Amino acid sequence: MSRAAAFAHPLLRVPTPAAWIAQARALPDVLLIDHANCEKKAASTALALMFAYAEDLELTGKMSRLAREELRHYEQVAKLIRSLGVPPRRLAPGRYAERMRRLVAKTEPQREVDLMICGAFIEARSCERFAALSPAIGAPLSDLFQGLHNAEARHYKVYLDLAGRAAKRAGVALPARIEAFAALEADLITSPDPLFRFHSGPPAPIPGC
Ligand SMILES: [Fe+2]
Ligand SMILES: [Fe+2]
Repeated sequence: MSRAAAFAHPLLRVPTPAAWIAQARALPDVLLIDHANCEKKAASTALALMFAYAEDLELTGKMSRLAREELRHYEQVAKLIRSLGVPPRRLAPGRYAERMRRLVAKTEPQREVDLMICGAFIEARSCERFAALSPAIGAPLSDLFQGLHNAEARHYKVYLDLAGRAAKRAGVALPARIEAFAALEADLITSPDPLFRFHSGPPAPIPGC
């Protein structure tokens, strides 16, 4: 049975394409630098949510712990980047997070529900990518990714719990909204992507080939 046929996930509809894994194996420096950026962004998103929902002590407590954990992940990735002698450089972000955020409602109470769902998908995809990469990429990257896999599985459940709580409080339907994000996410993961990044789709064909 192919990996795609066997794929079953509570949130994600599609597995990481084999073409993306092959690209990650070919571009480990870009993978690591973008991964470090993702960890920083995950911490900064958690901090932003602490400001946006400052009156919600359950949410701020969870986001504070999350931000600290993401910064520790960043330090782990940065340490590996240094030890491998990967030259530091700036990378423009890929399309994934920006396109997911475009689906987030502009007004409350739907906005909070959407932000939590969006966070759950980004964390769930990170978790799935770590699991897919670990056996394919070799040490020392595989050791790091294996170690981070469990943390990202916890993180997506934290966001999903907060999404459920916000939806209940607001009286909005959660399953339909999850489905909307799931459809968009699956499209971003399976449609050709001109820019290789940690959350990118498979490589776009080269014109003329
Ligand atoms: Fe992380
Ligand atoms: Fe995370």
